[in-house]
Amino acid sequence: MPSNTIKENQRKCQLSDGDQVWLFGYGSLIYKVDFPYLESKPASIPGWSRRFWQGSHDHRGTEKYPGRVVTLIEDQNAVCGGVAFLVDASVFKQLDEREKNGYLRFTIELAFSDGTCGMGLVYIAAPDNAAYLGEASELEIAEHICCAQGSSGTNRDYLLELAKSLRELGLEDRHVFDIEKLVCQIIQR
Ligand code: SIN
Repeated sequence: MPSNTIKENQRKCQLSDGDQVWLFGYGSLIYKVDFPYLESKPASIPGWSRRFWQGSHDHRGTEKYPGRVVTLIEDQNAVCGGVAFLVDASVFKQLDEREKNGYLRFTIELAFSDGTCGMGLVYIAAPDNAAYLGEASELEIAEHICCAQGSSGTNRDYLLELAKSLRELGLEDRHVFDIEKLVCQIIQR
């Protein structure tokens, strides 16, 4: 998979402007909502874990020193919480550009916080994309995050904003909160 996924997303997921689609956000899409939407509500997807295993060559790092951002990893016993946005399909032009560094759109079943379910789309950066970094210890991830920055700001702010938003949503995510704690310790050294 090339590191720019715009063409692949447009090929594999054909939508018409005017179609309304649920989009599940679990990373920066939760706290940097710079796209129009019709409605939003908390939602979750069973069978997936949020992990800082994707590299960022653009927003939070560079090709030489990629940042670490979240993707989803299949994990039978986990549930990933986030926010579902009802969007007009025309928004994907803008979102595909924003998520182009390795993320592909997949269809997934969403469990909404009001007890209902529905199908939606989610951006996932799979291990076969060129920017993928993969597993590392939480300490290694924290040390890495402290040093990276890209055109959208520091990698540290990506992590801290995400952790803050998850807390505001009442969501528990040990991986994110443990890395946040380590980053705060490193900064204070
Ligand atoms: C998402 O937020 O749903 C995708 C990953 C990201 O942009 O951080």
